[in-house]
Amino acid sequence: MRRAAAWLRARAPLFLLFLLGADLGSPSPPEGPGGPPGGRRDEPPSVVVAILARNAQHSLPHYLGALERMDYPKERISIWCATDHNIDNTTEMLHEWLTAVESQYRDVVFRSVEEPSSYPDELGPKHWTSERFEHLMRLKQDALDFARSEEADYILFADTDCILTDNQTLRFLIAQNQSVVAPMLESQTYYSNFWCGITPQGYYRRTADYFPTKNRQRLGCFAVPMVYATFLIDLKRGDTAGLAFHPPHPQYTWPFDDIIVFAYSCQATGAQMYLCNTRQFGFINVPMKSHESLEDERINFVHLILEAMVDGPPMLPSRHVYLPPKQPTKIGFDEVFLINLVRRPDRKERMLAALLELEIDSVVVPAVDGSALNSSDIKKLGVDLLPGYYDPFAGRTLTKGEVGCFLSHHRVWQEVRVARGLERSIVLEDDVRFEAYFKKRLLRLMAEVEQVQLDWDLIYLGRKQVNSEDEAPVEDVRNLVVPEYSYWTLAYVISQQGAQKLLDAQPISKMLPVDEFLPIMYDKHPNEEYKKHFSQRDLRAFSVHPLLAYPTHYTGDAQWMSDTETSTIWNDDSQKTDWSGSQKTLKDVRVPRGTSGQSFHPTSRDEL
Ligand SMILES: *[C@@H]1O[C@H](CO)[C@@H](O)[C@H](O)[C@H]1NC(C)=O
Ligand SMILES: *[C@@H]1O[C@H](CO)[C@@H](O)[C@H](O)[C@H]1NC(C)=O
Ligand SMILES: *[C@@H]1O[C@H](CO)[C@@H](O)[C@H](O)[C@H]1NC(C)=O
Ligand SMILES: *[C@@H]1O[C@H](CO)[C@@H](O)[C@H](O)[C@H]1NC(C)=O
Repeated sequence: MRRAAAWLRARAPLFLLFLLGADLGSPSPPEGPGGPPGGRRDEPPSVVVAILARNAQHSLPHYLGALERMDYPKERISIWCATDHNIDNTTEMLHEWLTAVESQYRDVVFRSVEEPSSYPDELGPKHWTSERFEHLMRLKQDALDFARSEEADYILFADTDCILTDNQTLRFLIAQNQSVVAPMLESQTYYSNFWCGITPQGYYRRTADYFPTKNRQRLGCFAVPMVYATFLIDLKRGDTAGLAFHPPHPQYTWPFDDIIVFAYSCQATGAQMYLCNTRQFGFINVPMKSHESLEDERINFVHLILEAMVDGPPMLPSRHVYLPPKQPTKIGFDEVFLINLVRRPDRKERMLAALLELEIDSVVVPAVDGSALNSSDIKKLGVDLLPGYYDPFAGRTLTKGEVGCFLSHHRVWQEVRVARGLERSIVLEDDVRFEAYFKKRLLRLMAEVEQVQLDWDLIYLGRKQVNSEDEAPVEDVRNLVVPEYSYWTLAYVISQQGAQKLLDAQPISKMLPVDEFLPIMYDKHPNEEYKKHFSQRDLRAFSVHPLLAYPTHYTGDAQWMSDTETSTIWNDDSQKTDWSGSQKTLKDVRVPRGTSGQSFHPTSRDEL
């Protein structure tokens, strides 16, 4: 349910916090604010962007970066910006940014209030009290009044947790020629910035349209009863003239909450709200719950940055605000290996950028490029096929790509065991999509593993469970199971002892795909014939559950491309094979990503 939104019509003046705006005093264009009504014919419409920021240090650099990069003439944009009740660096950041960019914009208003830094009865900075709602409604009304006084054509409300990565968003919204229109925003979960249904009391109502819209099974601009967080109002239309955030409409009996008040106002004035999902406009960070902290929110936002890297375009920070330097560490491991094919620098770049956001320090291991090897090279390396190995799904034996992949992991095990003697290491391939709270959850897991003195060799962080049988949980360690037959070597933790066991099995001379080799070594492979070739099958393997890593793309996805797609068979340079039919990379039927750390809250919302 929504946060408690007690019905309250506090008319008493809000204590001391209304300071007068510190107008940075940018010079107005010669024709005066607003110019001739409606602007000159050849000029693009004028737009006021309303920025209402509170404790937004985590997202402001990217928010402002997106605003800077918006493809729209800045001399037609005015910024109306307010901030207060901060316990972080929000005010300094906004000040720094506005000082740097104000001369480019048509007009800039900045209202900042230093004290107090919290509301009297709030549980924490993420708690919504009715006083806070009222304050926010008043601020939004002030922004609207300002836009009207400037005779601006449009006002764009854009919350600071909404990052508009599509630089055409503003032009697109204007072109829709609607009274109130919002771009649909992506999140890490089912959350977005619209409702398809509303109850007679003004609450969220679940409808059949929500998911097809959110998942883009239906595309277009749809009339909806509620949009929020980011939306454009056309101020030149008759039906928007009476829109208001504060005070609420005299007949208003719905919850006391700025977004619902505004939706009601739209209903009352007949201004229809629209939601468009025809482009990927940007991202919205899922709001925190009352008891959560700014640090939780920051970590969540980092995850959103990572998601945008996968389903791009990426979020980029502003060039004009100070970004605290990242401090990557090995997070308690001896090494973090990132296996990357030299001819896929794009993947390396993304992984390194993601690891930097997570503040994880890694070393790049150049993968063995199987496709660059001919069959005689492969023989020279001592590679021989496991007798009888055959991939029934693809209808062939080992490919050169699979040989390269095996040799790459083998190199890492040698480094772990032989060259450097590393107690515990993380191994990552270069197409990993990290789950929310990856680092925090991994560290907690390793602490528990240590505490119970678990004897482990390998812990899968990402894998595909082949059959759906139940897997035994590990006693006294939350989120750890004993894996059954699994595919993939996407992400795992390995101990020195584990690397020793894998090397001792001498798999190069009886090779099969590396992700088939591991289940043999922990004795869960269903093929008895394969197992006979490996007498010691005592690898102590475990798996996190739920998983902490998934592949970025699957077979059949638009961006899917396997390095082994055009590979040839390991001992035959002429026999081309098509990897795309492999069952292994088909999308798993599994718990949807992102459900582990988050629950489904279509009713919660973004916030000031
Ligand atoms: C808008 O974004 C596209 C794609 O990222 C880019 O190619 C283009 O140069 C950008 N336009 C402007 C005006 O920044
Ligand atoms: C706060 O922001 C200012 C200006 O952006 C910067 O110089 C300062 O180092 C920041 N302080 C912290 C603690 O991040
Ligand atoms: C915009 O919408 C208004 C009202 O629906 C209509 O009168 C007008 O012709 C439209 N303008 C354009 C350019 O489509
Ligand atoms: C295989 O490639 C090597 C170079 O990597 C080359 O010297 C050799 O002649 C090639 N052998 C065949 C059979 O093509």
